[in-house]
Amino acid sequence: MLELDEAINRRASVRYFKPKEVEDEKILELVKAAIRAPTASGLENWLFVVFRSGDAKEKLYELMAKGMEAYYSAVGISGEKLEKLRRRMYEEGMYRAPVYIAVFIDRNVRFLKGSEYDDLEYLWSVESAAMAIQNLMLKAVELGLGTVYIGVTNMNGIEDEVRKLAGLGDSYSLVGVIPVGYPKGDVKPRKRKKSAEDVMRFV
Ligand SMILES: Cc1cc2nc3c(=O)[nH]c(=O)nc-3n(C[C@H](O)[C@H](O)[C@H](O)COP(=O)(O)O)c2cc1C
Repeated sequence: MLELDEAINRRASVRYFKPKEVEDEKILELVKAAIRAPTASGLENWLFVVFRSGDAKEKLYELMAKGMEAYYSAVGISGEKLEKLRRRMYEEGMYRAPVYIAVFIDRNVRFLKGSEYDDLEYLWSVESAAMAIQNLMLKAVELGLGTVYIGVTNMNGIEDEVRKLAGLGDSYSLVGVIPVGYPKGDVKPRKRKKSAEDVMRFV
């Protein structure tokens, strides 16, 4: 078992993975850690869809690639940098993982029933799922696995495709896609631009 501090400080986004499969027991352990997160109003309205084989996984990868390109275009980067991204993805295998866990929330599961609470409950559900994802990521460190949070699959037109690929109805919203696998190469935690003192205030 890892000390919590070690897991927190060793976690870093991993974008390149070995082709080695991830054991089913480890995937289950990740989700068991995830659902220990706080969940607003005790809703537990999260769903972890594990993509690990065949066509659906390939289609999800293509959607991630589409999302990354849309993101880079929105940032306004040069054609040269876009080419570099494509090379990294299609030639060097960036984001190619043996497993992807797509995390959804079911908006039909409600505690506060009035429509005036729609936005608030949506926000709380996303926040709860994000906390679950962090648990999953820290557990992954302990299990020798690497993860990265993919948010670009929420870009316009892409999220719906991911939801359909997961076989889910309209009430499900995507929170994030998490590639999971054994890291290729060393995992080096990235420096923060700001210190704890920079981002805190005592009142
Ligand atoms: C909500 C969210 C969305 C993210 N989306 C992406 C993404 O689409 N693609 C990607 O490569 N990294 C994504 N990241 C990872 C961040 O780029 C990364 O966490 C940040 O650069 C800090 O690096 P570190 O995780 O290694 O400390 C996302 C992170 C968060 C929290």
